[in-house]
Amino acid sequence: LHTIGRGSLVKCLQKVDTFLHRNIGTNVVAVQEEKNGFKSLNAVQAERQEQAERSVLISCRSRTNEKKFLKYIANYGDIQKYFFYESYGMYAVVEFANKESVASLFEGTAIPSISHESLVPFKSRLLSMRNLDSVDLPNQPSGKKRQAQTSIPINELIQRLSKEESIDQQITSLTEAYQLTEENCRLRFLVCSLLKDIAAGFFPECTIKPFGSSVNGFGKLGCDLDMFLDLDGISGKKATMPKSGLFLEYQMKRANLERIVTQNILSVIGECVDQFGPGCMGVQKILNARCPLVRFAHQPSGFQCDLTANNRVAMKSTELLYLYGELDPRVRHLVFTVRCWARAHGITSSTAGAWISNFSLTVMVLFFLQRRSPPIIPTLDHLRDLAGPEDKSMIEDNDCTFVSDFSKIQLESNTETLEQLLCEFFEFYASFSFRTLSINIRKGKEQNKPEVAPLHIQNPFETTLNVSKNVNASQLDRFVAVCQESSWLIQQNNTAPSRDGTKGKANITPWGVSTLLLPSQVAGIKSRKRRIFESSSDRIKSLLESLKNTNNQQNQS
Ligand code: CTP
Ligand code: MG
Repeated sequence: LHTIGRGSLVKCLQKVDTFLHRNIGTNVVAVQEEKNGFKSLNAVQAERQEQAERSVLISCRSRTNEKKFLKYIANYGDIQKYFFYESYGMYAVVEFANKESVASLFEGTAIPSISHESLVPFKSRLLSMRNLDSVDLPNQPSGKKRQAQTSIPINELIQRLSKEESIDQQITSLTEAYQLTEENCRLRFLVCSLLKDIAAGFFPECTIKPFGSSVNGFGKLGCDLDMFLDLDGISGKKATMPKSGLFLEYQMKRANLERIVTQNILSVIGECVDQFGPGCMGVQKILNARCPLVRFAHQPSGFQCDLTANNRVAMKSTELLYLYGELDPRVRHLVFTVRCWARAHGITSSTAGAWISNFSLTVMVLFFLQRRSPPIIPTLDHLRDLAGPEDKSMIEDNDCTFVSDFSKIQLESNTETLEQLLCEFFEFYASFSFRTLSINIRKGKEQNKPEVAPLHIQNPFETTLNVSKNVNASQLDRFVAVCQESSWLIQQNNTAPSRDGTKGKANITPWGVSTLLLPSQVAGIKSRKRRIFESSSDRIKSLLESLKNTNNQQNQS
């Protein structure tokens, strides 16, 4: 290790990380479309959707006897995979080897009768198991199989990171703690598939696909589930019109605008979700938004869901983010760290408002990585130039074409470490000329702002739109102020404190990335002009001191 040097070691570790990410982190079942070791998002979606179709979600008692449960379910078919989790109660996801097993399971189920209440007899793949023997601890679902589907609290994360030995390790550890697990990913596809069963009453050939952070590689446990009702695959939709013959009249109920059709479809499906969707609570139809949607909470999974239709551009931006995340492992690591940092400082929020969204923040990280020398990721224009005829995609006059074959993309050999990149990220945006310039990942270069808005990030596909139109000046000021503070802070705390040598005693003094997640001293800042370094540094130092003291006291007691 001493002889190969830090740069080569980091490169080597990154290669191992890429290998693990591609070969173990992602799925191990049949690969439909794999080029150069990468799987396209479409291939991942198709594979996961097929798994979800063979799966059921079962509500069960918390002390369910795992062996008896499996023995009972196995009466209906071979089980390919299963896991238990806790949300509002205990649930099991069971994936059968064959889809037919779901049908035979339905044959063996009864619709419950409840006195004084009438039920909609809608057969959903959300079932509940009753009166199977519960008991003895050894047979209860094991801890690993009953994973919670939420991320660890920030304080726990700070402690975990403080135990790492380098900033690079802290960043990878943060990604591991926050990224979606295999189980959570399966659950997301299953919820889409359950929703599809409702929409299929009207559109039997439809699919419901997740998009956004559930599948773009940047999703954190607990993130919302963005869903897209896809009616494009319905046979005949894309066929050329014959001069004579039969036409499907029922599909031709016209409206003068596509937007109105989308609103009508979502209104009806939203009503069905509200009336028939088991576990779907608080259904809201938000049909006048720029992108009409139906929002609801899916209680059995704990997911906040946004169902949209005719939202193909968002699907394309999801595909693009996924591709960037797969190109170099540093992309995902940096996005996770910056997202987490932004959330800890209230730069982003779980509700919509005048603050920066996770999507905007991700585009800002991508832009920063394009601006490195040499660049870590290519520009979108370059990806478009590499596209083949099969990649051509025009959506409502927007050119959404970019290469899907990863093997055509040649990366430059940038060897910067995660630590360097994180420090540089803060410096880059601490001094970025937001007043005059726009962030543009299509060109990979800042452009003059085309309109007055505090923060201008060009939408990669709908290029006349600003992704961060909602952000007001004071939110941008806070972002800049926290970047300045964090840039200083990481340089002051970039080495792990020496350990006390006592075996088994973890050193939990916050350092490195952990210090970046502690409450900011500049959160209330009103103006970017106010320089805060000197005054805040004393307060941060005293905060770190007090944490060290608490830690020492804990170690002594
Ligand atoms: N999107 C977009 N343009 C926007 C906002 C969103 O194209 N102005 C697309 C992006 O593909 C984004 C997806 O819609 O990933 C979902 O949006 P959102 O839920 O806001 O962002 P996520 O990336 O899913 O992040 P989060 O984890 O905060 O949900
Ligand atoms: Mg989302």
